[in-house]
Amino acid sequence: MADDWQKHDMAFLGGRRLRRTRRTTWSRAMVRETVLTPGDLIWPLFVIEGHNEKTQIRTMPGVERLSVDLCVEAARAARDAGIPALALFPNTPDHLRSETGAEAYNPDNLMCRALSAIKSAVPEVGLIADVALDEYSSDGQDGLVRDGEILNDETVEVMIRSALVQSRAGADIIAPSDMMDGRVGAIRAALDDEGHEQVQIMAYAAKYASCFYGPFREAVGSGGRLRGDKRTYQMDYANSDEAMREIEQDIAEGADSVMVKPGLPYLDIVRRARDSFNIPIYAYQVSGEYAMIEMAAAAGAIDRKGAILESLAAFKRAGANGVLTYFALEVARELGR
Ligand code: PBG
Repeated sequence: MADDWQKHDMAFLGGRRLRRTRRTTWSRAMVRETVLTPGDLIWPLFVIEGHNEKTQIRTMPGVERLSVDLCVEAARAARDAGIPALALFPNTPDHLRSETGAEAYNPDNLMCRALSAIKSAVPEVGLIADVALDEYSSDGQDGLVRDGEILNDETVEVMIRSALVQSRAGADIIAPSDMMDGRVGAIRAALDDEGHEQVQIMAYAAKYASCFYGPFREAVGSGGRLRGDKRTYQMDYANSDEAMREIEQDIAEGADSVMVKPGLPYLDIVRRARDSFNIPIYAYQVSGEYAMIEMAAAAGAIDRKGAILESLAAFKRAGANGVLTYFALEVARELGR
């Protein structure tokens, strides 16, 4: 039989053999098209009150909410590993959540204290501040609610105030994650008015109404409050053209960079955005994606480290400039070895 195989005429290949460059490690390194580096990784942190306090998140094994002092330590570790920026999300104490979300613009809120503590201790690390009401409101929605309706322009007013206290506290990048119309332009104007011309805006431009955010909502404590869904403002996962319109709009309003979220199930959107726009594009490997990898690995179904690196490489291949990922510190350390 073996002889029969050898006799087969391979002339149709015309000498072309695509496996040739894959034969050896050195050759694979030479033809590699994309490379993941620590500089591609943005690390999200969940902030809680207290001192030297960590709490577990049941649906995100391996991720902990950290008190401000521990966030400062985490920021040092991130800097040492070559991570350029952190994305902060507060778990606001229950008694401070309200229908108006007023805690969002309290200059002494948890988010602002974390921003200023990290900025003064570890100024080399970029700080990305999430702006949305779900972390402060009593009903877990990203906007103000009246008669079951999510109010747009009224919400934008609150977001402006929130972005201003965050910028005063030391935020380098304001990241509105709410999907209200007009918030990027409104925040840009307000920041400029107050002299924060250098504060960037990273717009969660194409953010889909997704079930992959479940563990995050446990992490920030908004999930149990949420009634209904977010489909009147976050995007329908059936749509792609609409994502291009959202991105176009946010760029027109002054976004410095845009985000696609969730990540892996939306790589087509990342690629399409890369081909359509010449602006930095970030993808968010969200909490549910993190949980899927951790839990599949814990069940022995996949190789954990391999799955993490493969999933992050996919974002680079799709054209993302960087990835927000809960694996950031571990991966940055691994890449730096
Ligand atoms: C809230 C916000 C969410 C995430 C980031 N900012 C959740 C939501 O929109 O319900 C999700 C991140 C993740 O799942 O890791 N504005």
